[in-house]
Amino acid sequence: MPDSVKTIVVVGSGTMGSGIAHVAALAGFKVRVTDEMPHILEKAKKSIEANLATGVEKGKVTKEQKTKALANLSFDSDLQAAADGADMAIEAIVEDIHDKQIVAELLERYLDTEVVIATNTSSLSIAEIGSMIVHPERVIGMHFFNPVHIMPLVEIITHPRSSDEALETTLAVTKAMGKEPIVVKDSPGFASSRLGIALGLEAMRMLEDGVASAEDIDKAMELGYRHPMGPLRLTDLVGLDVRLAIAESLKAATGSDRFAPPAILKQKVAAGELGKKSGQGFYTWT
Ligand code: NAI
Repeated sequence: MPDSVKTIVVVGSGTMGSGIAHVAALAGFKVRVTDEMPHILEKAKKSIEANLATGVEKGKVTKEQKTKALANLSFDSDLQAAADGADMAIEAIVEDIHDKQIVAELLERYLDTEVVIATNTSSLSIAEIGSMIVHPERVIGMHFFNPVHIMPLVEIITHPRSSDEALETTLAVTKAMGKEPIVVKDSPGFASSRLGIALGLEAMRMLEDGVASAEDIDKAMELGYRHPMGPLRLTDLVGLDVRLAIAESLKAATGSDRFAPPAILKQKVAAGELGKKSGQGFYTWT
């Protein structure tokens, strides 16, 4: 654990915030979890407890680790109270630039000047999130993957004004959480979405061209390249609507036709075929 960070405030305790709080508490950080919705905080607490209990059942977490992790957590719907005295902030509120800018401003007001403000945005510009505050050098991207307690990667995103200290601290905290960091420049789609979407869209174009079936296109990557899951099955799990939105935002940000969503994707989304969650995508889910 880095000397400079003992207490982390996690802002937003939905899917990602609760997962981040879980791994941070398990790593030994004191974690203050906050959310503007008190009932979501309650839900986050239950989901962390349940995930830790599953970890114990599976032998991944000891009972002592679970007890310590739960003791490291506290929940408070008041942002100022939760942030008071924290050594790092990780923001995981809704994907809305305006809301994220406001939270960054509030955190700057409540935290000491040198405290890093990390954002878990999956697609917004880190520079833009930090553009309204006095010390944007303390703002950095810290992109976790879902489910956070299982996925090992954290994409750390720097922008032209982010400081070396902010990067060093974020790298140290990421490693202390047992995660594997990569460092990426603030650019549309960062590394993971840009590459993941490129592969997914090409697989869809191949399906449109009749190159092979969805199963065989996926198998090409699973068995030929050791991907744990092919790009079309993965799209079904993520949601075709989610991937369409990412493709459209990458197309707008880069101006490149590489990210233009193929007709098959648009048609499926228009028909309500959103993947696993709707029962039908590139595969039929029962
Ligand atoms: P979510 O909707 O599950 O949780 C967001 C939470 O933020 C909600 O509980 C909401 O009440 C709270 N919130 C909203 N405005 C707030 C404010 N001003 N102050 C305090 N709390 C506030 O969303 P999710 O999926 O956890 O996503 C959060 C962030 O993580 C987004 O930026 C998203 O793009 C990113 N992300 C999501 C991934 C995913 O698979 N769901 C993967 C990686 C990143």
